[in-house]
Amino acid sequence: MSNASGGNSGNFSGLPTPINDLEIKYTKIFINNEWHDSVCHRKIPVFNPATEEKICDVEEGDKEDIDKAVKAAKRAFQIGSTWRKMDASERGRLLNKLADLIERDRLTLSTMESIDSGKPFLATYMLDLAACIKILRYYAGWADKIQGRTIPVDGNYFTFTKHEPVGVCGQIIPWNFPLLMFAWKIAPSLCCGNTVVIKPAEQTPLTAIYMGALIKEAGFPPGVVNIVPGYGSTAGAAIANHMEIDKVAFTGSTEVGKLIQQAAGMSNLKRVTLELGGKSPNIIFADTDLDYAVEQAHHGLFFNQGQCCVAGSRIFVEELIYDEFVQKSVERAKKRVLGNPLVPGVDQGPQIDKQQYEKILELIESGKKEGAKLECGGASWGDKGFFIQPTVFSNVTDEMRIAKEEIFGPVQQIMKFKTVDEVIRRANNTHYGLVAGVFTKDINKAFTLASALQAGSIWINCYNAVTPQSPFGGYKMSGNGRELGEYGLEEYTEIKTVTIRIPEKNS
Ligand code: NAI
Ligand code: MG
Repeated sequence: MSNASGGNSGNFSGLPTPINDLEIKYTKIFINNEWHDSVCHRKIPVFNPATEEKICDVEEGDKEDIDKAVKAAKRAFQIGSTWRKMDASERGRLLNKLADLIERDRLTLSTMESIDSGKPFLATYMLDLAACIKILRYYAGWADKIQGRTIPVDGNYFTFTKHEPVGVCGQIIPWNFPLLMFAWKIAPSLCCGNTVVIKPAEQTPLTAIYMGALIKEAGFPPGVVNIVPGYGSTAGAAIANHMEIDKVAFTGSTEVGKLIQQAAGMSNLKRVTLELGGKSPNIIFADTDLDYAVEQAHHGLFFNQGQCCVAGSRIFVEELIYDEFVQKSVERAKKRVLGNPLVPGVDQGPQIDKQQYEKILELIESGKKEGAKLECGGASWGDKGFFIQPTVFSNVTDEMRIAKEEIFGPVQQIMKFKTVDEVIRRANNTHYGLVAGVFTKDINKAFTLASALQAGSIWINCYNAVTPQSPFGGYKMSGNGRELGEYGLEEYTEIKTVTIRIPEKNS
């Protein structure tokens, strides 16, 4: 790890640079294409996690603001409304227009995201923003291709299905990919013709609020998208409990996922999709290209300060190459450059807030106490901001807390295995099941593992392979339902069966 406040000495000329003295224009609640103060007149302070300085205050939405937003969304969804009468192809055009506006404002949005969340600017610009734009365009293309079937039923009937929008969708998103999660949630929902009430995480509301301005400019009718910043236990819970919200989509902790499912069950049985945590195995066989696997496993864990639901945080390495893999992983981790996320060459920013920072440091302590070998890192970094040194543990065993709990930080666990059966059993021995990685040149091992691992996505000889076109979601306690791809549409449509009796004779 370089002790760099100035970043790497690489050549960054020609690459995008963040905006100096970014102005935060939008801090209010967005309902009906208008800006609103919160009913309770409270505000949420928003901090830069790299400096711990306050950036601004935003309006704090609560139950009453969610009620206002739901009313607007319901009105926009009524039969005969502009949105319900709009051609499906026009919905697609609006989504494409929104993607154009994000492209236009890409520097503003990536600078804002970087300041608000501590993500390194260039990665935000290149990866998060690119993915946002692609997801909007992907679902823009689906808008006029969502079609039902005709069904050869018994008797003299003509039966067909229509795929209709579900209604008002409540969407609750986390702080690790604020803008990307915003796009993941609104794009499939809008392309199917639903309306939306979305709550960004209290730590990172700025880019979501900015999107309100772009949604209006793109030409979406009032009430189609409503954005209410607020805290989880107030505004978030109001979404989960609302009687007039037809579906809720959530990304965040397993703990809150359970509360949301429960609230849905206790209120109006709204549909629920959950994208929750993980403790994903990444399995490295001795026959693989070692340097490549070390690099992939490094990014699979350290990307985004380790704050990824898909983080490959249980790395199982075949005994033969274990020591070499550990040594190379430690060398790689030590090369990470920590510092101000706006400075080119910095590839690790701070954790999102004090709570996450303390949770991670506590888990690191548990690893030391439970007998894992601390190879590097293991403590905080710098004198301000929520930075944690890239940390690698070897000699990790399955019952240690660092091998079982989601750490959500820059902490890599490396474990040893001997046989295929053993590693399958150990990899699956978790309540989670979001993704799994496998590195091998042996096609038989690749297929065996692809079948045996209990996870929503299996990545063979690659990692972090999330694309707009392929479905994503968890087995077991990593969630319910799938997002992205064509499968993602299923969660946002009701299927209506229409049956028409055909008279036997003309009368
Ligand atoms: P969280 O689950 O509390 O927060 C995620 C979102 O849920 C935020 O918008 C929050 O305001 C909202 N929320 C919180 N309580 C709620 C409630 N009672 N009803 C409705 N909405 C509610 O996650 P938190 O506390 O920020 O992080 C805790 C842990 O969760 C992390 O350390 C990590 O392990 C995991 N996590 C997983 C994420 C993922 O991508 N799957 C994202 C963020 C956190
Ligand atoms: Mg929480």
